[in-house]
Amino acid sequence: MQQLDPKRLPRHVAIIMDGNGRWAKQKLRNRVFGHEEGANSVREIVRCCRELGIPYLTLYAFSKENWQRPASEVKALWTLLKRFLKSELPELIDKHVRLCHVGDTEGIPGDVLRELDAAVTQTAHFNTLTVSLAMNYGGRQEIVRAAKLFAADVLAGKLQPESLSSELFSQFLFTAALPAPDLVIRTGGEYRVSNFLLWQLAYAELYITKVLWPDFREPNFVEALNEYQQRERRFGKTSEQTQPESARAV
Ligand code: FPP
Repeated sequence: MQQLDPKRLPRHVAIIMDGNGRWAKQKLRNRVFGHEEGANSVREIVRCCRELGIPYLTLYAFSKENWQRPASEVKALWTLLKRFLKSELPELIDKHVRLCHVGDTEGIPGDVLRELDAAVTQTAHFNTLTVSLAMNYGGRQEIVRAAKLFAADVLAGKLQPESLSSELFSQFLFTAALPAPDLVIRTGGEYRVSNFLLWQLAYAELYITKVLWPDFREPNFVEALNEYQQRERRFGKTSEQTQPESARAV
C-alpha cells in the first residue's frame, strides 16, 4: 500500500458489494456460496481500512429491494449476516472497531436483530474505525422517514418549518453521526446507485469496477484508492479555486 498518499485518503468509503451471484455462477455453485465468499472480502476490506487509518466504511449488505429475491436466498442472506455479526464480534472488540447499523430495524428477523444490537452496543465506545452495515436500507425510504420525523417535530412545536436546512435535515437520517462518503465503490460493473445513500452521495467520487465482490481484495481496494487520489474534488468550484496556491499556474 506504499504508493498511496496517507494525507489524501478518503475519510469515508461506501461500497455497493455487487456480483456475488455471478461469481458463484461462474464457478457452477449456488448464489449463497457467492455471498459466503463475499463475507471474506468484507473481512479483508475492513482490515485494509484499519491498517490505512480510513475511519469510516459503509457496506450495502441488504437493501429494501432485496426482500423481493427468492425466499430461500433472503433467508440464507440473513442467516449469513447473523453468523457474521456473531463470529466477528470478538475481533471487532479486539481491534476497537465500532459497528453501526444504517437502515430500518423493523423488518429485520428477530434473531439477527439480537446479534446486531449486541454488536452495536458492545462496540459503541470505539472510534478508530466505524463500520456501518446498511441492512434493510433504502435511500428513498430513508429520506421519506427523515421528512416524517422533521414534520413530527414541527407538529410537536419543537422546530419551525423555516429552520430546515441541509445540515438539519441530515440529522434526521440514519447516517446523522457519519461524515458524507468521499468515495463510493461499486463492484460487478453496473453503472447505478441502486437506492444507496441517495442524499449522502451528493459529492462522492464514484469508482466502478467489473471485478465481482468475492474477488475484490486488497490490491483492488488500493487501486480504487489510487484512482481516488488522482481525482480533483471541486465541490462546484473551479479548478483554480480548489488547487493550493503553490500549485496554481501564474
Ligand atoms: C449483491 O450481489 C450482494 C448482495 C445483495 C448482498 C451483499 C452481501 C454480502 C456481500 C454478504 C456478506 C456481507 C456481510 C456484511 C457479511 P448479487 O447477489 O446481486 O450478485 P449478482 O449481481 O451477480 O447476482
